[in-house]
Amino acid sequence: MGIDVASARVDTPGCENVLHLNNAGCSLPPTPVLERVKAHLDLEAAMGGYEAEDRVEEEYRRVYASIARMLGCAAGEIALVENATRAWDAAFYALAEGFQPGDKILTASNEYVSNYLALLQVARQRRTEIIVAPNGPGGEISLTALEAAILQHGERMKLIALTHVPTNGGLVQPAAAVGRIARRNHIPYLLDACQSAGQMPLRVEELGCDMLAATGRKYLRGPRGTGFLYVRQSMLERLEPTPIDMCSAEWTAREEYKLRNDARRFEISGGSVACQLGLGAAVEYAMAVGLDNIAARVTMLAEQLREHLARISGITVRDLPGSGNQARCGIVTFTHEHHSAAAIVANMREQNINVRVTPLGSTRIDMEQRGLTAMARASVHYYNTEEELERFAEAVRNL
Ligand SMILES: Cc1ncc(COP(=O)(O)O)c(C=O)c1O
Repeated sequence: MGIDVASARVDTPGCENVLHLNNAGCSLPPTPVLERVKAHLDLEAAMGGYEAEDRVEEEYRRVYASIARMLGCAAGEIALVENATRAWDAAFYALAEGFQPGDKILTASNEYVSNYLALLQVARQRRTEIIVAPNGPGGEISLTALEAAILQHGERMKLIALTHVPTNGGLVQPAAAVGRIARRNHIPYLLDACQSAGQMPLRVEELGCDMLAATGRKYLRGPRGTGFLYVRQSMLERLEPTPIDMCSAEWTAREEYKLRNDARRFEISGGSVACQLGLGAAVEYAMAVGLDNIAARVTMLAEQLREHLARISGITVRDLPGSGNQARCGIVTFTHEHHSAAAIVANMREQNINVRVTPLGSTRIDMEQRGLTAMARASVHYYNTEEELERFAEAVRNL
């Protein structure tokens, strides 16, 4: 069954105001998400924040269960955090505690800026080496090069860190194929699913990842200030998070503490209960729409948009194709021979159309390799319509 787009739009108040093509930045939330957050804020105001938290204890527990159901894992393997970066960092810095000088970390050319900054910091502090795997012919990570690097470095290869869908284009990395290689070679695998969560089905067993980081506000349509981390149980037991607090551990004796034995050891107390309940509502909403349905529609709309843009004189569509039969996703990037990305975004904003600049610094290695300094990014979601895409293409034609 497909998606009832008309109902989805009625359920998305923002659709009345803007032509929103910045879903890779932050999606428009559906009414149930919005209502859930507001209702809990009202409850906190009416009865006190801690007391309100006690009242929703059972529902809050179900947020973990919802995410676990979406990913095909156990609720105890999920931590709720503030955003994808916090999730990714929590896993990475815990792993980094065990890195020795000369250890290698393998990543791809389009790794997200914040992740790469952390890789750089740890490389400087612990004298580890970052290996950026070369790309295959479609711009995706080369699996052959990945295997060759593993063969070359053997035991020194301590981590594979991959961004599933880069912030700067429609490419979908072959995350499951990388997972099979990681497993075969017993190398921890950290997947940044920030742009893929909510946009396509994600099953951790198929992906083969040991850790997965995602955000609430992008394709999942949850509130800002939410994110989650998945950590495989067998990996969990080996990771000591820093920092820890009363949420991650128990102070068992004056000189002793005991970490939680589930993924909540990666949480820090004091987060927004209202927003996390909103995230739970968003995950349930996405599953009710159906992640297969969402992927099919988003892919179809994005291809349509690429076709519209490719027909406009002066425009170059920049999305890398990837390889095999892997379709490109909902992120569409392009440049104009005369207008800068910033000028395009500003011009669109005047017409109530939301698109975004994807700058050099967000994915420096990939952008430099392709000789790009910035691109305009239009990212579609299932609640966008064909008419909206035509309107946007017309606005670009009239630049
Ligand atoms: C691929 C990717 N990873 C991570 C992030 C960071 O997400 P957050 O702002 O939720 O930390 C982004 C944000 O744009 C992203 O595109």
